Amino acid sequence: MRRAVCPGSFDPVTNGHLDIIVRASRLYDSVHVAVMINKAKKGLFDIDERIALIEQVTAELGNVRVEAFNGLLVDFCRQREIPAIVKGLRAVSDFDYELQMAQMNNGLSGVETLFVPTNPAYSFLSSSLVKEVAQWGGDISHLVPPQVLDALNEKLRQQ
Ligand code: PNS
Repeated sequence: MRRAVCPGSFDPVTNGHLDIIVRASRLYDSVHVAVMINKAKKGLFDIDERIALIEQVTAELGNVRVEAFNGLLVDFCRQREIPAIVKGLRAVSDFDYELQMAQMNNGLSGVETLFVPTNPAYSFLSSSLVKEVAQWGGDISHLVPPQVLDALNEKLRQQ
């Protein structure tokens, strides 16, 4: 069984994330989407909401499971015998930090990181920008799945 993890904050999941998860699901038998808990960072969506949205938008992918994790990514991998982390690389600006994390994770546990070039249609896309644009009424309907668009609009309406 070839396993991989797609980790992230996913606050919320975007079309860019989804593109990487779909591509990973074609390369591996089993893909774990790890919603990493960062207590220092208060998100817009709570962890259960993020998980529910990712589950909805990956429902048709039979080999994808979504889990939250509080701790080091290498421990998530070790506990589940996952040898590979799959990450999207949007631009050169992502590279420095991603390389640092990949080398740290490899040094800590031997886990490998595989970088997938982001679809150019999403190379500028991030959860933070999506939230900012949505907050000011901008159109993000082409950047997130419909379920996420609805959830974002509802969340912003409540604020
Ligand atoms: O979506 P993000 O916020 O860019 O994802 C970053 C994430 C969650 C993948 C990264 O911060 C992470 O792996 N956090 C878990 C804690 C950890 O393992 N830190 C050491 C990284 S070398």
